[in-house]
Amino acid sequence: MDNELIKYDFLVIGSGIAGLFFALRAAEHGRVAVVTKKHRAESNTNYAQGGIAAVTSKEDSFAMHIRDTLTAGAGLCREPVVRTIVEEGPARIAELVELGMRFTKREIPDSPGDKEWDLGKEGGHSKRRVLHAKDITGREIERALLAAAAMRPNIVIHEDHCAIDLITSHKLGLPGPNRCLGAYVLNAKKKRVETFTAPTVLLATGGCGKVYLYTTNPDIAAGDGLAMAYRAGAAIANMEFIQFHPTCLYHPRAKSFLISEAVRGEGAVLKTLDGQEFMDGYHPLKSLAPRDIVARAIDSEMKRSGADHVFLDITHKPARFIMDRFPNIYATCMQYNIDITKEFIPVVPAAHYQCGGVSTNVDGETEILGLYAVGEVSCTGLHGANRLASNSLLEALVCSHRAALKAVANPLPPVECKIPDWQFGKAHNPDEMVVVSHNWDEIRRLMWDYVGIVRTNKRLQRAKKRITNLQDEIQEYYWDCIVTRDLLELRNLATVAELIVESALRRPESRGLHYNLDYPNQNPEWAQRDTVLRRPLL
Ligand code: FAD
Ligand code: SIN
Repeated sequence: MDNELIKYDFLVIGSGIAGLFFALRAAEHGRVAVVTKKHRAESNTNYAQGGIAAVTSKEDSFAMHIRDTLTAGAGLCREPVVRTIVEEGPARIAELVELGMRFTKREIPDSPGDKEWDLGKEGGHSKRRVLHAKDITGREIERALLAAAAMRPNIVIHEDHCAIDLITSHKLGLPGPNRCLGAYVLNAKKKRVETFTAPTVLLATGGCGKVYLYTTNPDIAAGDGLAMAYRAGAAIANMEFIQFHPTCLYHPRAKSFLISEAVRGEGAVLKTLDGQEFMDGYHPLKSLAPRDIVARAIDSEMKRSGADHVFLDITHKPARFIMDRFPNIYATCMQYNIDITKEFIPVVPAAHYQCGGVSTNVDGETEILGLYAVGEVSCTGLHGANRLASNSLLEALVCSHRAALKAVANPLPPVECKIPDWQFGKAHNPDEMVVVSHNWDEIRRLMWDYVGIVRTNKRLQRAKKRITNLQDEIQEYYWDCIVTRDLLELRNLATVAELIVESALRRPESRGLHYNLDYPNQNPEWAQRDTVLRRPLL
């Protein structure tokens, strides 16, 4: 493998909504490299269905959106952050539309020919406030942002480029505050490591759903950015709060396909295998209760009955409405011979969203100079202990805009120090793929079994022990071998698993998404207390 040094003004890692929105702002001030693991559109963003929550209707108010967000967050949100993101949302939505985003509109009742945004409803929202592009909101966002980026000569997108590690002044042994100088990146096509340097680096690598056996996330979501930031010395907050989406399609051939909460927003009801509604026994909002409650209720019903899924029923709505409002869900289910206009949809909960992440302020600034983190990889304090549906795309928009303004207003000097080449191992291990896939599988299975929707101290301790052993094996193995994307992801998944388990062990209470049978109630001493982890100094 060879090394190559590449210099830019801004280095953006990730091409989802956070990375691309930032890149479009930054490109007005310098050259921007966007490195992205696979194809440029492949991201969690691309699969978003429900939409973006923002106050755009006269029936709604900032106060109501803030209240709903705080209620879902179960006492752990940072209120000033919630206020900023909610209040700046409508302006960013308008800019997204200017960039080419096409949200779905509807005829205004009693005003023929006039149109307004068609607003969806999801769990925990007291009003209809979710802007959407039918049920393919994310695909439309990626289309619009990538088309806009293609018009900016200052933006260069490097596909099949997997960031390996951040380069920091402390790793190089330089004095002064820790500063990010760039990243080592594996060019998977050319099989070489490239050294990207830039005074401003944005981590926009998304979440870590792949650390669990069952997830709504695509394969890119391996927690790479989180693990890189941890290795670089950044603070990581609240990783015990993993959101499980209640309704992932249950079918042996369907991989990670979500049935949007917006389907319940339009009246779909959860039922047991014998067709009984059960959510009224758990929450007054029934099937539209906050996600943590619905996911736990399904888990409990499945354990009680021994069933391996439950049903979602929207058959009472007119077929034409279902096919028009949810064309992608309708068509995808049809591929599996499920006609959702006539039949119940088999669903199970699956890991969906990481509420914790790299600790930042609302401008995306981390503890490391020159390193910003925005989107799902970050923890700003918006979501607290449980994210309100459709608030993550909103957070990514507002915070990437603010991060770009901040970086431009506070430029750092160019990177002029000598950056050493990436040191890679030389061994070609013939049984590499077997070992990697075995360890991948083991981590994801043990996280599902021991660190899932319902936890206990004993299961968490068991998971910790096993992950520590796996990390030793991976470390030994990893440094011997030529780097591949699979190996990099495996190392990162093990780190993310460790951070989730450690955070969960440190919170002696149940709050929001973190439910531990050994401490089934909230502990007021832990209200407003984040779980913060930093890599011990070597
Ligand atoms: P992503 O969109 O995940 O982008 C991450 C990028 O980083 C990708 O380009 C990836 O390839 C790249 N990357 C990762 N690691 C590396 C590496 N090592 N090197 C280089 N590149 C790397 N939220 C809502 O608000 N509303 C919704 O309706 C909604 N629906 C959802 C539906 C599904 C099925 C899923 C999975 C999530 C949904 N979410 C929704 C959550 C939301 O989509 C994500 O939180 C959000 O899109 C994250 O955006 P992001 O830019 O932070 O990360
Ligand atoms: C969904 O459409 O149910 C996903 C919405 C979200 O995760 O915010």
